[in-house]
Amino acid sequence: MQDIQTQEDIYKVVDEFYKKLFADERISYIFTDVIPVDQKLEEHLQMLVKFWSQAILGTGGYFNNMTQIHLDVHNKSALSKELFTIWLEHFEAAINENFEGFNGERMKNMAHNLSTIMQIKIAQNK
Ligand code: HEM
Repeated sequence: MQDIQTQEDIYKVVDEFYKKLFADERISYIFTDVIPVDQKLEEHLQMLVKFWSQAILGTGGYFNNMTQIHLDVHNKSALSKELFTIWLEHFEAAINENFEGFNGERMKNMAHNLSTIMQIKIAQNK
């Protein structure tokens, strides 16, 4: 298996990842009912590609405030520790099933770290 090297590779990861999220009813409601990203899925996937491409490939162009975006989601419907665990499981599986190597490991580590940061911000926000 190859490492993640291009924006097409990142698209493959986020596309497979979102298929898993939508197929899991423990978390899918967030993406269909709370924030219906299923209605603008291509746009959303492109935003995720922009974010991960900047983080992993150093391409630039992502300027949004990720923490605030997730605080806003949380204020509509609680983002529990369990939801973060489910999110991370599917994210890791989407990478492990398709790629192998340094950049894949970096993406998984970064997702873990951001998940922790988001949960701390959510706890502080109460
Ligand atoms: C409980 C776990 C999570 C849930 C339920 C969740 C849910 C969501 C939702 C509903 C959106 C769309 C927000 C909107 O368009 O208004 C979003 C955007 C996003 N999420 Fe998450 N998220 C979770 C964790 C994470 C983590 C750990 C990361 C770490 C990389 C992440 C990365 C992103 C990115 C990059 C966007 C795009 C933000 C933008 O539009 O600029 N999410 N998330």
